[in-house]
Amino acid sequence: MISVAIDGPAGAGKSTIAKTVSKELGFIYVDTGALYRAIGLKFMNVGFDEELNCDIAKVLEETKVDIKFINGEQRVFLNGEDVSDLIRTPKASLMASAVSAKPQVREFLLDMQRRLARENDVIMDGRDIGTVVLPDATVKIFLTASAKERANRRYKELIEKGMEVNYEDVLSDIEKRDYNDSHRAIAPLKPAEDSVLADTSDCTLEQSVELILSIIKERLDNK
Ligand code: DC
Repeated sequence: MISVAIDGPAGAGKSTIAKTVSKELGFIYVDTGALYRAIGLKFMNVGFDEELNCDIAKVLEETKVDIKFINGEQRVFLNGEDVSDLIRTPKASLMASAVSAKPQVREFLLDMQRRLARENDVIMDGRDIGTVVLPDATVKIFLTASAKERANRRYKELIEKGMEVNYEDVLSDIEKRDYNDSHRAIAPLKPAEDSVLADTSDCTLEQSVELILSIIKERLDNK
């Protein structure tokens, strides 16, 4: 099986790019952030905030996360309910970042991610795919862009979805998540040593897709 690991900070365009590239290559696309988001939502639903002052293991015992591919699109289920849309709010993003710093949560999701890569040709995106989840991935890419450019893109995306947000809040959420994701003790966001760095700050979406496709094809040709 072929696995492509794409890691990088929030809003770098990983999911949009990976979706397009996966269709082109005929691989499944696994958005691992959605799994952390579903768990963040669970903690939110049972009344906890980002401080997570609770017995993490106990909440996880009552948590079941599944993903299904419907018409080629990943949908995420929390205890049987399709939460693919509910996990996209700014509050759910911060909760995802908070739960993702907990070792029990990372452990809880590890087998599922590895199984998906064992059974399918995958493009998997996240923060620790090349470093922890799939250390033997066929291709590893670290996809990034400046915080301002990422905030810009995320802001436009949220506005298009009809959400009421302002740019400064989106930028500060991104900076806060960058800090949390790269400073946590376990599986922090960092490029794998054998990853290829792709900075898309000055690229259009089409150029970013081309760049990632060319990196993957070159690596696969040289295997
Ligand atoms: O990619 P995203 O923004 O949907 O991810 C939501 C949060 O989940 C992000 O702040 C960090 C965390 N995450 C992680 O720690 N490891 C992953 N493989 C994917 C996401």
